[in-house]
Amino acid sequence: MKGNITLQKKFKELQQQRQALLATNFYNFETLKGVLQAACSIKKPVILQLTKSSIEYMGLPAAMDLAETMLKFYRVEGWIHLDHGDSYELVAACLDAGFHSVMIDASEKPFEENVAVTKEVVKLAEKYGANVEAELGYVAKLGQSKEKTGFTEPAEAKLFVEETGVNALAIAIGSAHGFYKEEPKLDLERLSEINKITNAALVLHGASGIPHDTLREAIKRGICKINLATEIKNIFMKTLKNKLATENEIDLRKIFPSATDAVTELVKNKLLAIQMEDIIN
Ligand code: 13P
Repeated sequence: MKGNITLQKKFKELQQQRQALLATNFYNFETLKGVLQAACSIKKPVILQLTKSSIEYMGLPAAMDLAETMLKFYRVEGWIHLDHGDSYELVAACLDAGFHSVMIDASEKPFEENVAVTKEVVKLAEKYGANVEAELGYVAKLGQSKEKTGFTEPAEAKLFVEETGVNALAIAIGSAHGFYKEEPKLDLERLSEINKITNAALVLHGASGIPHDTLREAIKRGICKINLATEIKNIFMKTLKNKLATENEIDLRKIFPSATDAVTELVKNKLLAIQMEDIIN
């Protein structure tokens, strides 16, 4: 089910209310079900994200139809989003398939190139009424160095948003994809500064392993979308491994539910942890 309102509009509401949506990556039927059971049980909206690898794994029509059908079945308000789209062509294919939102990630390209491709995507997405997210700065991807830094410069963020017209912007303030060796220190002052001078909905990538208090502080300062992937993969596979190690069962329908339920528990806790009702005023 498409949310009653567009994601662009939802972000505007969230910005006013100082709230954020959880954006969860899914990889198969079970992880999707795990996420939606959580959202359904506590009646919270959610963004369902697919990366290029997940799209290749499931096939674009299957992934899209599954997500759409499951959103309807669980009566969850949700949006289907392309995470880290690396080309105009991939973005176009996802928009054609009906995605509500796309990310074009040209953050490793020079500023001008990032602006140019993002602008093209914004133009295309307008025809579909879809939301566009871009990234500015260095947020380490899986396998990339977490020591290297390249935080988002507030003035550049302002210019980038004005020149491209993106609705949402992923910023580099000290988070990284994958688990952390040490608790990450987010540059919250920088976040506040960026939030003050841009009107884009700000996105925090790399939420796995960030303490809930820090997530809440980030939301208070302007983060509207929190991306969660690694913790989902991790809890699913760990639970599955433990189950397989102790049970000699070949009926996968008896094996998978415990891993699916572990995803539900994790996502439910995250959704509850980022609820901001109690600290809005
Ligand atoms: P984690 O894998 O660290 O949770 O990050 C997810 C993410 O940012 C997806 O874009």
